[in-house]
Amino acid sequence: MSPDTSQLVPPHGGTLRELLATGEEAAALVAQASELPVLRLGARQVTDLELLSVGALSPLGGFMDEADYRAVVEGMCLADGTVWSVPITLPVTAGQAADLAGRQIALAAEDGTLLAVMDAGEAYPYDREREAEKVYRTADPAHPGVEAVNEQAELLLGGPVRAFALPPDPEFPEHRLTPAQTRAAFAERGWRTVVGFQTRNPVHRAHEYLTKVALEVVDGLLLHPLVGETKEGDIPADVRMQCYQVLLDGYYAQDRVVLSVLPASMRYAGPREAIFHAIMRQNYGCSHFIVGRDHAGVGDYYGTYDAQEIFDQLEPGALAIQPLKFEHSFFCVRCEGMASSHTCPHGNDVHVFLSGTRVREMLEAGEAPPAEFTRPEVAEVLIEAYSGGAP
Ligand code: ADX
Repeated sequence: MSPDTSQLVPPHGGTLRELLATGEEAAALVAQASELPVLRLGARQVTDLELLSVGALSPLGGFMDEADYRAVVEGMCLADGTVWSVPITLPVTAGQAADLAGRQIALAAEDGTLLAVMDAGEAYPYDREREAEKVYRTADPAHPGVEAVNEQAELLLGGPVRAFALPPDPEFPEHRLTPAQTRAAFAERGWRTVVGFQTRNPVHRAHEYLTKVALEVVDGLLLHPLVGETKEGDIPADVRMQCYQVLLDGYYAQDRVVLSVLPASMRYAGPREAIFHAIMRQNYGCSHFIVGRDHAGVGDYYGTYDAQEIFDQLEPGALAIQPLKFEHSFFCVRCEGMASSHTCPHGNDVHVFLSGTRVREMLEAGEAPPAEFTRPEVAEVLIEAYSGGAP
């Protein structure tokens, strides 16, 4: 008997919308796709299609049409008013649009594996700078998210999608649970409240602290590292997964944590991406979501707590998931423990905090960051990964 998931938070928009067909429908789609013109997707769109397929982007039914795209960019909601913060788009060149717009087409992974059938609508033009200003709060071409928008093709193709396969050769298949699977895992453990933790980094002491403070007041933790595309300089997902594993083995109550990956690409859109991250975690069954300092930020583009404040602009009830907002946290030598300005009266001189750049320098030199910053077991994995140069 499948576990009763009715006590968990509802998916965004009310129902889990999985676009991956099964059984006879899938077989019919496979046959249909082999007759259709094929569009090969780029890496970002493959990750978006996987998220659509498994229901992580509920209530979306495909790549955004013009009405949804414009509503999202301008007003942070879909055309029907449902909150949505980040465009989910399929860019095409004018040449591709001439062949594919207004037709049924097959979508393929980068290696040509057919994945889905899409009813493509008209291709529509878009203003890259406007998208950058509204979604990323900057048009600076050096911003990695803006750079990705600038490099996209000039038109967007929207339309409903039915998938019949997930992208081939997935990383971490044993930790790649779908929203239906995480919901079942939570229900099996008897959890009703679950906190989701987004990360694109190894879990250092500060991250561990946030998740454990949250675990004091909810039933369980979904440690949910993002493993789609990240920018150069970020630590690769396979190294991070080893870090999470040694940390969970040594320092967490085993029956309180589910480790699973989020196959999304990073946008580095700070506040808008924090909302996007929360929506996806609601779909995976989380009632709460941690938003700490500079969530999904990069460089100095966002204020330290912008990604927390954006949640206050939403209408009450717009999201069922609750943000858990955390101050910048650190180890305080005088308090002899993890703390933040909410709890610690001491000055920066007794706070152990290292920048990402400093941590990288230490690891590249084969030096472990202090145990107050990174658990020794995690440092060991990182030093090994950095031993032949940056991984
Ligand atoms: S992110 O791009 O996924 O946000 P990261 O993996 O570093 O980057 O952060 C994961 C989560 O932990 C985010 O919510 C972030 O705000 C939070 N966080 C990271 N470091 C700290 C810290 N020292 N104090 C408070 N929150 C933090």
